[in-house]
Amino acid sequence: MNGSGLPPRRLLVTGGCGFIGSNFIHFLLREHPDVAVVNLDKLTYAGNPDNLRDLEGDSRYRFIRGDIADADVVEQAMVGVDAVVNFAAETHVDRSLFGADDFIRTDVHGTYVLLRAAQVAGAGRFIQVSTDEVYGDVPPGKRSRESDPLHPRSPYAASKAGGEMQCIAFWETYRLPVIITRASNNVGPRQHPEKAVPLFVTNALRGEPLPVYGDGRQRRDWLYVEDHCRALDLLLRRGEPGEVYNIGADNERENVEVAALVLRELEKPLGLIRHVEDRPGHDRRYALDSSKLRALSWAPRHGFEEALRATVRWYVENEWWWRRVREGDFARFYAAQYGHRLGGATGG
Ligand SMILES: NC(=O)c1ccc[n+]([C@@H]2O[C@H](COP(=O)([O-])OP(=O)(O)OC[C@H]3O[C@@H](n4cnc5c(N)ncnc54)[C@H](O)[C@@H]3O)[C@@H](O)[C@H]2O)c1
Repeated sequence: MNGSGLPPRRLLVTGGCGFIGSNFIHFLLREHPDVAVVNLDKLTYAGNPDNLRDLEGDSRYRFIRGDIADADVVEQAMVGVDAVVNFAAETHVDRSLFGADDFIRTDVHGTYVLLRAAQVAGAGRFIQVSTDEVYGDVPPGKRSRESDPLHPRSPYAASKAGGEMQCIAFWETYRLPVIITRASNNVGPRQHPEKAVPLFVTNALRGEPLPVYGDGRQRRDWLYVEDHCRALDLLLRRGEPGEVYNIGADNERENVEVAALVLRELEKPLGLIRHVEDRPGHDRRYALDSSKLRALSWAPRHGFEEALRATVRWYVENEWWWRRVREGDFARFYAAQYGHRLGGATGG
C-alpha cells in the first residue's frame, strides 16, 4: 500500500541487475501488468545487464545507472515512485574479508541516502532486503526469530545489520513505512558464480574441483529465488510498516550435501569435491523461524531438490551467460580466494 492506500504502481528497485533483483523485476512485471519499475543499479562487478536484456523495449521498465550512495541520482530516481525495494548491496562474505570499505559505503551509507530520499519524496513503502546472516551463528535446535538480538560475525553481515539500523531509525523517527526482510540463502538462475551453488555447478561443468570450506558441514536454509520474490511482493502489499519478516523455506542442508547433489544432477564423480581451508569466522548454521510471514499465507512452492535441479538446468542451458561472467573480474577473485587453497587454480 502507498500513502493513498492502494497497492504500489510505480516502484524503485535498486540493485536490479543482480541475482535476486533481476528475478524480482521479471516476477513483478509478469505478475502485475499495471506496475512500472525503475531500476537503479551501479553495475558493479555483480551487476549484469544481460540479466534484464529481454526487458529492453518494455515501456514499463526503465534503467538508471547510478549509485544508491549518490544523493542527486537517488533523488531523480525517486520522482513519482510510491514504493522502494532495496536490493543494492555488496553481497559476498568472502570479498568482505579482503576489505569492507565498499560494503560500508553501499550497505550502510547507501541505505541511509535512499531512506532520506524516500522520506523527502513521501514514499509509501520501503522494503529493505536483508539477510539471515545478521543473526550470526545459530546453535543446533534453535531457529532465529525476528525479535532475537543481532549478532553479525562477518564484515558483510555487520554492514547489512548497519543498514537495518538506519531503517529502524527512519521508522521510529519519521514514520517512514519501512519493512525489513531477512531471507535465507537463495538458489536460482542468474546468481554470480562466486556464490556456492553456481560455483559448484560451473566448476563441475568445467570438470574442475568443487572447493568446499572446512568439513563442509555448515548448514544453510535454502530458498528458491522465486519464492523469495513472491514473499517480497506479498509484503509490499500486506506487510506491516516498522516490522521485520524472516523469509526461510525450512530446507536445511549441509554445504557438502549440496555439492554432492549438484554432482549427482550433472552425473559427475563425487571425487570432484575438494575440502579446502575454511573461511575465517565461518558461521556453522543459519536457520529461520518464518511463522510471522507464513501467517500472511505465504509458503514456499518449491522443494529444495526441485529448486536445485531447476537451477542446475538453467546453468547448463545458459553456458554463454556464466562463461562471460567468469571471463571478467572473476578470475582475479578466484585466484586470490582459492588459488592457494586449490594449489594454483585460476578459475577464469
Ligand atoms: N543471495 C542471497 O542468497 C541473499 C540472501 C539474503 C539476502 N540477500 C540480500 O539480497 C540483496 C540482493 O542480493 P543478490 O544476491 O541479488 O546480490 P548481487 O551481488 O547478485 O547483486 C547486487 C546488485 O547491487 C548492485 N549494486 C551494488 N552496489 C550498488 C550501489 N552502490 N548502488 C547501486 N547498485 C549497487 C550491483 O551492481 C548488483 O546488480 C542484497 O541486499 C543481499 O544482501 C541475498
